[in-house]
Amino acid sequence: MFERVIIVSGPTIEPIDPVRFISNRSSGKTGEQLADEAKKRGIPEIIFISGPTCFTPVDVTVIPVETALEMREQLHRYVETADVIIMAAAVGDYRVDTYSEEKIKKDSDTLTLRLVKNPDLLYELGQRKGDRQVLVGYAAETHDIFENALKKFKRKNLDLLVLNEISSRNPAFGTGENQVCFVTAGGIRELESMEKSTLAAHIWDEIYRIKEEGRRKKEDSL
Ligand code: CTP
Repeated sequence: MFERVIIVSGPTIEPIDPVRFISNRSSGKTGEQLADEAKKRGIPEIIFISGPTCFTPVDVTVIPVETALEMREQLHRYVETADVIIMAAAVGDYRVDTYSEEKIKKDSDTLTLRLVKNPDLLYELGQRKGDRQVLVGYAAETHDIFENALKKFKRKNLDLLVLNEISSRNPAFGTGENQVCFVTAGGIRELESMEKSTLAAHIWDEIYRIKEEGRRKKEDSL
């Protein structure tokens, strides 16, 4: 059913000067599990675009990137012919306005960095999504979670939003287990807490279900 899928994983890093950068706590484990599950299902071409992480799957096409802009460039190279795109990366929302070619010296007591917004890659993918593509995004919410998630699902033109409620009970970063909800055109479904590898299988089941539903709807309309 699927020939080529793209999984975007890991954190991005935004350099400040030759020795420093801004990044986040994404381990890249979720992306790795999604790629392993895609392999199990026999998907012929798996393109894995990833920020720096220890979790890199084997036997897939790995495209290492660092910044959000590099991630975007690589995505645009492959997106046209992809059947499924999963944005599991923790893309840095901001980068420094002016990169310092020289190491910044600690001459003053305070240092102000001016940050500028990175493009929202998932939003851009939603805007150019083809008819046969399934687009999957993630959301991490701490409050008004369902309201925010539904808004995000619509605004980014997604087929599936994997919603993490971030709390002390469900920290999400770096842990093996995760409790999420699926947001689809059909509504919101809460899943039990489970291992990330099991969750990856559920996510792929849902992607196949969405694709099949789309196919049936198309047939009915003919
Ligand atoms: N994402 C992206 N590009 C960005 C930021 C986020 O593609 N510059 C993607 C992530 O890969 C994830 C989804 O957007 O799939 C959710 O990001 P999240 O940080 O939860 O929410 P935002 O949409 O950025 O909104 P907010 O931070 O306001 O909640």
